[in-house]
Amino acid sequence: MPAYTATAPGKIILFGEHAVVYGRPAIAIPVPEVQARVYVSANPRSPAGNIMIKAPDIDLEAKLDDLPADHPIAFAVQVLQSEIGVRQTPACTIQINSTIPIAAGMGSGAAVSVAVMRALSAFLGHPLPDERVSALAYEVEKLYHGTPSGVDNTVIAFKTPVFYQREHPIEKLSVKLPVTLVIGDTGVSSSTAMVVGDVRRAWQTDTEGYEAIFDQVANLVLSARRIIDSGGPAELGPLMDENHQLLKKIRVSSPELDKLVLAAKQAGAIGAKLSGAGRGGNMISVVEPELALQVSNALEEAGAVRTLITRLFPDI
Ligand code: PMV
Repeated sequence: MPAYTATAPGKIILFGEHAVVYGRPAIAIPVPEVQARVYVSANPRSPAGNIMIKAPDIDLEAKLDDLPADHPIAFAVQVLQSEIGVRQTPACTIQINSTIPIAAGMGSGAAVSVAVMRALSAFLGHPLPDERVSALAYEVEKLYHGTPSGVDNTVIAFKTPVFYQREHPIEKLSVKLPVTLVIGDTGVSSSTAMVVGDVRRAWQTDTEGYEAIFDQVANLVLSARRIIDSGGPAELGPLMDENHQLLKKIRVSSPELDKLVLAAKQAGAIGAKLSGAGRGGNMISVVEPELALQVSNALEEAGAVRTLITRLFPDI
């Protein structure tokens, strides 16, 4: 049986996190500079059904059967097996490596699920279309996050910038001019489930106030979409700043995130905001290309443990 490799990129949310959980749209893009890679190879000498999982980045080397059923990797394999209806998977090793920072809002969990689904389905002779890969990875996301919007698995499975809204068909974003982004990692790990849960409780106590904020976020997302589709990055800056202020209002920022957002702006970024669940993880800034290094250096001086420059390329 031939071996198969699949990769999946990291992702970053440009606009609309949290509000997207409440039915508003969001914009997210793949970040191919970081990725999960999964290699599935046969172990012809082991009995059928024996699946070894090796994930050195998280110090995991175990038989699939020895992992708890709700372990995200075990669950991803199980979801895939029932999708394609295999009774017994031939003995194999699933090797997982990832350069995507964990618990930092860059979709590391969804990327591992997507790459596992792709490599294992190909290995089993049933390669799946992107829609199915995304839907199956969403099942695993539910295990991590409770009430995920589905944006992570969608942008990662389709590997394209998306305008995403729950229960709407996926819309690929059209990009007119290149946009340069600098991402800064606070190094503070944050649980998406916990932050989303806190927002849910606050929304329950002040539904009207939170709904009004989510409507404002939705308007920013619609404006951002028009700009990406027709104009340059300069106009995106103020929208990012406004989105950050709204995220502060729902109390998902943190001193570390605010410090990096300020440092990016002081170094010349056109706009900056936290990205993802918040309280830690990453922030993003939109910059003129010639200032990307300067902003990245400023972020490191302000305490970022990692920075990354990525670009949104126009459609060809
Ligand atoms: O996985 P993260 O940290 O990028 O956060 C996901 C974004 C949220 O909108 C907060 C949650 C969701 O499911 O969309």
